Amino acid sequence: MGFLLLSLILQYWIHTVEGSCSEGSVVTCDECLLLGANCAWCTEENFTDWFSVSQRCDTLNNLLEKGCDRSHIYLPVSEAQILQDRPLQKKPGAGNQTQISPQKMSLKLRPGSEVTFQVKIQHTEDYPVDIYYLMDLSASMFDDLGNIKDLGSSLSKEMAKLTSKFRMGFGSFVEKPVLPYIHITEEQLANPCSHTSMICQPTFGYKHVLPLTSRTDRFNEIIAKQQVSGNVDMLEGGFDAIMQAAVCGDKIGWRNDSMRLLVFVSDGDSHFGMDSRMAGIVIPNDGQCHLNANNEYSMSTVQEYPTLGQLIDKVVENNILLIFAVTEKQINVYKNYADLIPGATVGVLAKDSGNVLELIVTAYKELRSEIELEALGDTEELRMSFTAICPNGTTFPDVKYCSNIKPGETVVFNVSVELPGCLSGLRRFSLKAVGLQDSLDVELESLCSCDCQQPPTGNSSQCTEGQGVFQCGVCACQPGFLGAQCECNEETALLSDCHATNDSEKCNGQGDCYCGQCVCHKSSFGRIYGPYCECDNYSCVRFRGELCGGHGVCDCGDCHCESGWTGDYCNCSADTDACMSEDGDLCSGRGKCNCGKCVCTVPGASGDKCENCPTCGEACTSAR
Ligand SMILES: *[C@@H]1O[C@H](CO)[C@@H](O)[C@H](O)[C@H]1NC(C)=O
Ligand SMILES: *[C@@H]1O[C@H](CO)[C@@H](O)[C@H](O)[C@H]1NC(C)=O
Ligand SMILES: *[C@@H]1O[C@H](CO)[C@@H](O)[C@H](O)[C@H]1NC(C)=O
Ligand SMILES: *[C@@H]1O[C@H](CO)[C@@H](O)[C@H](O)[C@H]1NC(C)=O
Ligand SMILES: *[C@@H]1O[C@H](CO)[C@@H](O)[C@H](O)[C@H]1NC(C)=O
Ligand SMILES: *[C@@H]1O[C@H](CO)[C@@H](O)[C@H](O)[C@H]1NC(C)=O
Ligand SMILES: *[C@@H]1O[C@H](CO)[C@@H](O)[C@H](O)[C@H]1NC(C)=O
Ligand SMILES: *[C@@H]1O[C@H](CO)[C@@H](O)[C@H](O)[C@H]1NC(C)=O
Ligand SMILES: *[C@@H]1O[C@H](CO)[C@@H](O)[C@H](O)[C@H]1NC(C)=O
Repeated sequence: MGFLLLSLILQYWIHTVEGSCSEGSVVTCDECLLLGANCAWCTEENFTDWFSVSQRCDTLNNLLEKGCDRSHIYLPVSEAQILQDRPLQKKPGAGNQTQISPQKMSLKLRPGSEVTFQVKIQHTEDYPVDIYYLMDLSASMFDDLGNIKDLGSSLSKEMAKLTSKFRMGFGSFVEKPVLPYIHITEEQLANPCSHTSMICQPTFGYKHVLPLTSRTDRFNEIIAKQQVSGNVDMLEGGFDAIMQAAVCGDKIGWRNDSMRLLVFVSDGDSHFGMDSRMAGIVIPNDGQCHLNANNEYSMSTVQEYPTLGQLIDKVVENNILLIFAVTEKQINVYKNYADLIPGATVGVLAKDSGNVLELIVTAYKELRSEIELEALGDTEELRMSFTAICPNGTTFPDVKYCSNIKPGETVVFNVSVELPGCLSGLRRFSLKAVGLQDSLDVELESLCSCDCQQPPTGNSSQCTEGQGVFQCGVCACQPGFLGAQCECNEETALLSDCHATNDSEKCNGQGDCYCGQCVCHKSSFGRIYGPYCECDNYSCVRFRGELCGGHGVCDCGDCHCESGWTGDYCNCSADTDACMSEDGDLCSGRGKCNCGKCVCTVPGASGDKCENCPTCGEACTSAR
């Protein structure tokens, strides 16, 4: 078991792009996750006040350093999980055989992180092969028909050397039977070749003639019965036929587990897309199967030709491998098409189709000797890169295929998936080899929202009822509310802008405007307060270095003296003890006690307590 786990873990690894997690405006855990794949959130209640809530977002180490408890740190980590991994099997038969490993994965990625995993692909030996022969039956193909009358048996003989499960089918095409592609005189309609000595069948779009069958003698019989037809222009309606042969799987008889080869035989180029507008056909091709009871394409004169893009989509979706067997003159045209269609190959068809057997077998062997990885599905928002590790050990960065593969050899691809941003939901995509059915299905989720375990308490006492819920250590406010408890209504907040006067700074530059009210900054000198943070408790007069003489409280610029003290500096004692003279009189009866010192009022009196008064004797005597 330990080994199994270990081997699973080694099949992928994750690389994280380090970002800076400190950005002033972050107020929620979700916003924090977006700053970088290494950013974590401290969910500890009261870890910071509301104004420095962004301090909760930081790297793991910084949060620990700031004193956030490890159990309160929310740090979702990208992960890859292999859900199904049946081993590759060379020999078919045992039911669960597969050509790709693993088969199912789930990825959970932080934006900015990248996961790399390995995909292994191996051709199964004796793979079933379906070959559908799609033939241009315009008049110029007359001699070709004669030359392929034995193709069924000869091809099946050749293919028997390569697979024991071979089937063949046949279909034919000419052109949309409408002006200007055909002449519409009665005679020409019945026999489009009437201007020559030949007898042709009326022009048709596409006919499916022989569903895929292992009875190759049926193929020979069918060929013997075919008759060419005719049309006017040099281009043919072949793409209509490819589209139908690709999407009408049930009628064609493609097997689910086979290699599906569609051999397209023609000596002309093909119309596509809006070419049909000159025939007045303007309804776009819908990519659906439209074969009628006679297995003829019923929308030939109704819908436009498929565009190359539509054709590519359907060919890929249905795992069809196209073999363009075309005459020398057309080779470059079809090479251009094949470059755009995954898995498509082109071979030069002799003028009389004499070499078609060889051409098919060569193309088949070529296809079997190359393994090309393709990604299908929702991949637009992802950055994917591939490295091919081919069987001889050579590594090709940024390459998705290996060639010269021998049967039974395994190709490995290192696949990297990077998520640049958040996704609105799950994304599903699959990786598969071109032309093979088996795929690795991947389910990808972005880790963009915090799920802090502690259930968000509905109407928590921490957060104003109905205006916010407690999540990840902070109140997550309903739209329109803000603040530590979501107590602030943004609308009412707009009524005041926290300016004391038109030309003063917001909150006097000493605080933040919050919900229409100033919340004053903290200061190491003391407390800042007041509706506009215009007050503090440390800017007052000093006496001998002491604020408010050491006997008062500083309040918004004024000293409020403690009892027993007075004066602007609170340096004036109201205590009269120091003014008492020995006889118990205040200042010997000759003065006033002022701030604990006698101020003598009687002329001639002096001394700390006005006790000396040489001129006062007369007064005594006179009194006596
Ligand atoms: C957080 O602060 C509030 C108000 O100061 C207090 O009532 C509450 O108990 C504190 N919570 C914790 C977990 O310390
Ligand atoms: C095929 O795979 C399924 C599930 O992975 C398993 O239940 C079943 O037994 C397998 N069948 C064979 C023939 O191995
Ligand atoms: C072939 O595949 C189709 C679509 O995946 C599925 O509906 C159908 O049942 C399969 N047929 C067989 C015979 O497995
Ligand atoms: C390995 O194979 C690749 C093609 O599959 C080929 O390009 C390369 O030259 C080969 N390397 C060696 C060392 O044989
Ligand atoms: C491919 O992945 C394996 C890990 O499974 C790793 O050892 C190897 O270096 C990778 N190769 C390349 C070319 O990235
Ligand atoms: C919260 O309180 C409001 C009003 O009292 C109520 O309508 C709502 O259902 C409560 N929500 C929860 C989750 O308890
Ligand atoms: C402040 O500005 C407003 C609008 O600009 C103006 O109406 C008001 O009279 C000004 N008040 C003072 C005291 O200047
Ligand atoms: C100002 O107020 C703060 C908080 O009440 C207090 O801690 C500080 O001692 C005060 N400073 C002075 C100089 O009174
Ligand atoms: C109180 O302080 C003021 C300013 O320093 C000074 O002028 C005054 O003399 C002081 N009063 C006393 C009683 O010390």
